[in-house]
Amino acid sequence: MLSIGIDIGGTKIAAGVVDEEGRIIAQAQRRTPAQDPDLLEQAVADAVRDLRERHPVVAVGIGAAGFVGADRRTVVFAANLNWRDRPLAANVEALVDLPVVVENDANAAGWAEFRFGPAADASNMLMMTVGTGLGGAIVVDGRLLRGAGGFAGEIAHMTAVPDGQWCGCGNRGCLEQYTAGTALVRSVRAAASTGDPLLAPMLAAAGGDVEAIDGPLVTELATAGDPGARRHLAELGSWLGFGAASIAAVLDPEIIVIGGGVSEAGDLLLGPAQDRFAAALTARAHRRLAPFKQASFGNRAGMIGAADLARTDDA
Ligand code: BGC
Ligand code: NA
Ligand code: ZN
Repeated sequence: MLSIGIDIGGTKIAAGVVDEEGRIIAQAQRRTPAQDPDLLEQAVADAVRDLRERHPVVAVGIGAAGFVGADRRTVVFAANLNWRDRPLAANVEALVDLPVVVENDANAAGWAEFRFGPAADASNMLMMTVGTGLGGAIVVDGRLLRGAGGFAGEIAHMTAVPDGQWCGCGNRGCLEQYTAGTALVRSVRAAASTGDPLLAPMLAAAGGDVEAIDGPLVTELATAGDPGARRHLAELGSWLGFGAASIAAVLDPEIIVIGGGVSEAGDLLLGPAQDRFAAALTARAHRRLAPFKQASFGNRAGMIGAADLARTDDA
């Protein structure tokens, strides 16, 4: 049985035909018309039509970066996108004539890692996706934790710092403001614009333009050994570990998977996360510490997980 999984990112829509082992057998891409929800749905439908011409698919799953209702059809609210009570599934169904389910983007990505990735042998998993925003997926006893309204796992909006940085959700001090790609870029730019000598190589690599510093540049320099880039990535990792320790106090996961674009930095991010987690977790001397593992499907996880979730109402 084949299904289509779709990941709606800030810049591109990635669609793939996925089989029951989580293998992508065909792909299509479209640019994301980020400002216009109507055009966005048309672009999604267009990618679906393109793929189904060549493959017999039974369903479509869409991963969307926001609060998705328990009916798996509506994006109720999005902190970083222009979606309010958007009946995304119904709108796309009307365009493509296939059953469509909508899932939170991080739930979709986490589901792929749980079914086919590093958490395949686990029953309890925390997945944190570090991209533009901070996503969360929580699997408890083999099932995705969805909560009463579908909004469980919104780890981005746990309060990390009372009265801290303003968040796109309307609150202050959310964990996302210290752990996501946007937070990384904000802190690096702020340090660079004060003339911090540690950031001099970064600024030079950005052609002297603070605004030209972006997430991929930080990762690139960190990988090449630049101390300033490494310092800021480590700081982000430490916040991830701090947040994970609070979540683990409640849920006791056996593995913590870190995904999203920023996780490409690997141990430069995961090492400090694991260390802070080990220093912060309650009863740490008396329990097994969940290992932090890098996600295995990179930016294809959302597609794979959404496709798999579209085939089941039992996750
Ligand atoms: C949103 C989540 C989303 C995450 C990653 C957060 O700001 O609230 O719904 O999963 O970003 O995209
Ligand atoms: Na989630
Ligand atoms: Zn928030």
